[in-house]
Amino acid sequence: MASILVLNGPNLNLLGSREPDHYGHRSLQEIMEDLERFAGACGHELLHEQENSEGALIEAVQKAAHDGIDYIIFNPAGYTHTSVALRDALLAVTIPFIEVHLSGVVSREPFRRLSYFSDIAMGVISGFHGESYMLALQAIINQIEP
Ligand code: DQA
Repeated sequence: MASILVLNGPNLNLLGSREPDHYGHRSLQEIMEDLERFAGACGHELLHEQENSEGALIEAVQKAAHDGIDYIIFNPAGYTHTSVALRDALLAVTIPFIEVHLSGVVSREPFRRLSYFSDIAMGVISGFHGESYMLALQAIINQIEP
């Protein structure tokens, strides 16, 4: 059994009402419930946390290492394009992670093409609204049970 943490950054608590053309109509809670159900059916533990501040996200990454989390599904949201400190946290803990975005970040404003995480992630999934998280979870489970 693997322990998988889904970690979400700022403003993702507003999913459902926030810019639905980019982020879809489903709430974070609905998306996470589906993931929990799927992970549980496959015999894995799924935890999730959403934080609006950079410091709290760094603390969540450090705690994940302390708690023995095996994989992280990470949507750094706006910090994707700015946060050296969060990148350093992930490098420090060496927990494999998938970078996830609901929107198609490369086809939006040019500043969203820069990610501080893509080159150190297992992979990047972007543009499938809430389904991006499920695709990331399936990729992790396929790695555990090829
Ligand atoms: C996002 C894309 C980011 O550019 C943006 O700042 C977000 C959400 C996404 O999931 O599409 O807050 O990470």
